[in-house]
Amino acid sequence: MGTKTPLIIGISGGSGSGKTSVTNAISEVFKDHSVVVIQQDYYYKDQSHLAFEERLNTNYDHPLAFDNDLLLEHIQNLLNNQSIKKPVYDYAQHTRSSETITIEPKDVIILEGILVLEDQRLRDIMDIKLFVDTDSDLRIIRRILRDIKDRGRTVESVVDQYLSVVRPMHNQFIEPTKRYADVIIPEGGQNEVAIDLVVTKIKTILDSDGIV
Ligand code: CTP
Repeated sequence: MGTKTPLIIGISGGSGSGKTSVTNAISEVFKDHSVVVIQQDYYYKDQSHLAFEERLNTNYDHPLAFDNDLLLEHIQNLLNNQSIKKPVYDYAQHTRSSETITIEPKDVIILEGILVLEDQRLRDIMDIKLFVDTDSDLRIIRRILRDIKDRGRTVESVVDQYLSVVRPMHNQFIEPTKRYADVIIPEGGQNEVAIDLVVTKIKTILDSDGIV
């Protein structure tokens, strides 16, 4: 069975679930082919017109925080063999940075983010839908370590944001999208069997398109 190219793989799961590890593991296998990773996070709505205090108070775990229209437009461009200027997101400033990254069309697009399975338009263009399912205690531990190291946060701010926003939004919007996944991957990047199965499926599709 042939399909369109590029092949689009959606990788969702809660914050700190290990989406990045799964994405890296899949990208690594196809590194000799052309793969691009599009992070939904980079498509947070531009907030440069807002004061820093207002940006701090934004709910970044709600579907409306994302500019999915731009994200869809960019994926459509890649599907039409056109390059895009991918936005870059600054987590310390809570807004889009002024730089962009030019991305050329590729054979495989990995679309990764907490809410990529929430928007039906995004689901409809995906060939494979994955949900990385990791216990919430592991996710909060990872998030505390990562946000302090990479995103300029304090323990207090991470815990406060987790309890007031991240956790309730996860339960309301992210967890329910698990039902749309073709494959649910427990424990993310450590799950070699699940990643091997997904990689085999991707190879089969690419092979039927004469790409590998
Ligand atoms: N976020 C934030 N501040 C912003 C923008 C986003 O704290 N200005 C947070 C949101 O609260 C959201 C999280 O970023 O919960 C989304 O990123 P996450 O899924 O945690 O990171 P990934 O590296 O994409 O995924 P994983 O940890 O699963 O590898």
